[in-house]
Amino acid sequence: MKTLVYGAYGYTGERIASEALDRGLDVVVAGRNGTKTRGLGIELGVESRVADPGELAPELEDIDAVLNCAGPFTRTAEPVVDACLDTETAYLDITGELPVVEALAERDRDAETAGVPVLPAVGFDVVPTDCLACHLHDRLPGAESLALGVETRADLSRGTLETVLEHAAGGGSIRQNGALESVAVGERTRKIDFGNGPRTGLLAPLADVATAYYTTGVPNIETYVAAPDSAARALRVGQPLLSLLGFRPLRRTLQRAVKALAADPPTQPAERDRVSVWGAVTDGNQTAVSRLETPEPYSLTVDAATTVLERLDGMPELPAGFETPAVALDAEFVLDLDGVEGFHDEALREGERPGLE
Ligand SMILES: NC(=O)c1ccc[n+]([C@@H]2O[C@H](COP(=O)([O-])OP(=O)(O)OC[C@H]3O[C@@H](n4cnc5c(N)ncnc54)[C@H](OP(=O)(O)O)[C@@H]3O)[C@@H](O)[C@H]2O)c1
Repeated sequence: MKTLVYGAYGYTGERIASEALDRGLDVVVAGRNGTKTRGLGIELGVESRVADPGELAPELEDIDAVLNCAGPFTRTAEPVVDACLDTETAYLDITGELPVVEALAERDRDAETAGVPVLPAVGFDVVPTDCLACHLHDRLPGAESLALGVETRADLSRGTLETVLEHAAGGGSIRQNGALESVAVGERTRKIDFGNGPRTGLLAPLADVATAYYTTGVPNIETYVAAPDSAARALRVGQPLLSLLGFRPLRRTLQRAVKALAADPPTQPAERDRVSVWGAVTDGNQTAVSRLETPEPYSLTVDAATTVLERLDGMPELPAGFETPAVALDAEFVLDLDGVEGFHDEALREGERPGLE
């Protein structure tokens, strides 16, 4: 399977392209900047192709799959998917952006008609949480509500910070009775035990509000990140300031400043950067809680995206249409990744919603 990694000279794209080559996959690197793309091609000893996202189709004639690593994906996913559907090329990406996943889910019928898989979010957000959601749904198939939480001390890449700023003005989202509902970030908190006693989880719109719904069909979904209580208070007070980021020139100026001044995380992560992932489902009578531990998010992303490519490479026929990672592979997929421990299942509890404040 010949795979074109788009956005390949970015922090994550380069790590994935390099890992995929180490694992013997057939890789072409691509991006919009000719100098950086060709330079990376020479460094890695592979072919390189230069194109803007909207001009990619002519570059895909001999390509089987595109792995899009160029984010924020609000700017790249749609045109790259269009190019993939036009040329019957599989589409994958590492987005963690909820609106992007929702937009790609709407392309399901187009993708099925074209016979093309559209498989977004094969990175840290959402592979572990999506597999955990699927596992929890298997434990309690009648579940009506799902909550997921993530605890990490790892630093964010400059590209992730840029992407967070892209969506900051939009506030939060939860899923209620199957529909997306807007809520203010920080409006809701929840006590979550990630394995070392209760911590405050801050409501944050992870892409799982979309993916976990398509994976499990559970109609009520909330996602949380662990944060100090002071962060929740600061977000509540600072809400009007966040809305200023809806003003595009201001947002773009801040994004440029972040890219110029911030630093990417080291490629050899520290043990303290490991991540705890928590999930709970309830059917109104019973509650199931499970947890999972993973390596640092960017290492997990590199491993997950590359392993998904290997799995697709081994399939006699690729699935067609929009798929979430846990559906395209399975709930156990995450356990095959390096440094991921098994699911820790707590005993089913009767008549209790865990950790609600
Ligand atoms: N789901 C997850 O867990 C996960 C994990 C890792 C990363 N991510 C996401 O992946 C994205 C990349 O992260 P990163 O750390 O690799 O960032 P990065 O180092 O800034 O790299 C971004 C790459 O995307 C390219 N790009 C951005 N906008 C583009 C556009 N409109 N057209 C064409 N190319 C464009 C950039 O090219 P230029 O330099 O020319 O702009 C660069 O090659 C971010 O959105 C990040 O949030 C998600």
